[in-house]
Amino acid sequence: MFLLAIESSCDETSASVVTKQNKILSNVVASSKDFFEKTGGIVPEIAARKQLEFILPIIDTALKEAGISLSKVDYISVTTGPGLVGSLFVGVTTAKTLSIYLKKPIIPINHLLGHLFSVFVKEYKRNIIQENLPQFPLLSLIVSGGHTDLVLVNSPYSIDYLGGTRDDAVGEAFDKVARLLNLSNYLGGPKISMEAKKFQRLDISSKLTFPRPLKNSNDYDFSFSGLKTAVLRYLQDNPDYNVSEVAFAFEEAIVDVLLYKLNKAYKKFKPKNVSIVGGVSANSKLRKRAKSIFKETLFIPPIFLCGDNAGMIGIASLYYLNKATFNLSGIKANPSESLRSY
Ligand code: KG4
Ligand code: ZN
Repeated sequence: MFLLAIESSCDETSASVVTKQNKILSNVVASSKDFFEKTGGIVPEIAARKQLEFILPIIDTALKEAGISLSKVDYISVTTGPGLVGSLFVGVTTAKTLSIYLKKPIIPINHLLGHLFSVFVKEYKRNIIQENLPQFPLLSLIVSGGHTDLVLVNSPYSIDYLGGTRDDAVGEAFDKVARLLNLSNYLGGPKISMEAKKFQRLDISSKLTFPRPLKNSNDYDFSFSGLKTAVLRYLQDNPDYNVSEVAFAFEEAIVDVLLYKLNKAYKKFKPKNVSIVGGVSANSKLRKRAKSIFKETLFIPPIFLCGDNAGMIGIASLYYLNKATFNLSGIKANPSESLRSY
């Protein structure tokens, strides 16, 4: 059985071939993010055009890397949302066209489900990733550029939404603070992380701390826009600020509040496993500290599966084969699709 997965929700164009037993045979990703580093942020219209430019060569390469021809594909799966409507539309339309041409059904997949199932990969391009998969109930923190959600996955068909951000997503906060520090114009998370490490290596003590918004609130919600404003105020009041020190203090505040709330939910719901997924799960401080708290109950994707990719969409699809359909009019790009309907 071969499943061709397509992901085009934002500025990554990706195609992957997966097969039974949670194996990713190929996972090809093209990104237009360097372009948006120059424009200082994503331009949705341009992102959609880049999707169009990349999608067919990416699918072709994914099939070649998997060593199969298009005629061998049994299922097509595609991200239907959330994301940018123009970008999503390219993937959805391509999937529908392939479905008609190949006479194979489509499985529509929520992008956040893709991130959730990024920790369910057993084999990646013939390398064993892990023997054991997470067990349900799985408590999962999804941290990306557009989302910060805490969910309890009882099964693929029963997901309880526990909380999420009330304003900026955590990745967005990283990106905005990186811009304030002139570290990056677009996706600044990795740059903040590098600067914070530089400061840590100096091993000097710092009194600088930023607020932990909603840390002690009675729920599982997050808020990051006030933290960004606190950083801005500090920079305005201290023109001689040390970039690495600010990056360090900011990252500390983020990691502290994320793990505090995750641990609070862990103690209350007593899940079998915990996972942290999404672009920000690549953050090394978050990974290290989470491992020290949750030990062997924790699953985090390997770095190459943290950001947007079709491999995770393909793996998620294996859990929703019963959704495969030829009813193409029911499959639509939905920019605001949420996890709450699962
Ligand atoms: O999941 P993702 O690739 O795209 C969305 O679905 O949004 O996440 C992208 C986000 C960006 O905000 C980026 O700055 C952040 O993930 N990110 C990081 C790191 N690597 C990527 N944030 C903090 N530390 C990192 N190492
Ligand atoms: Zn994502």
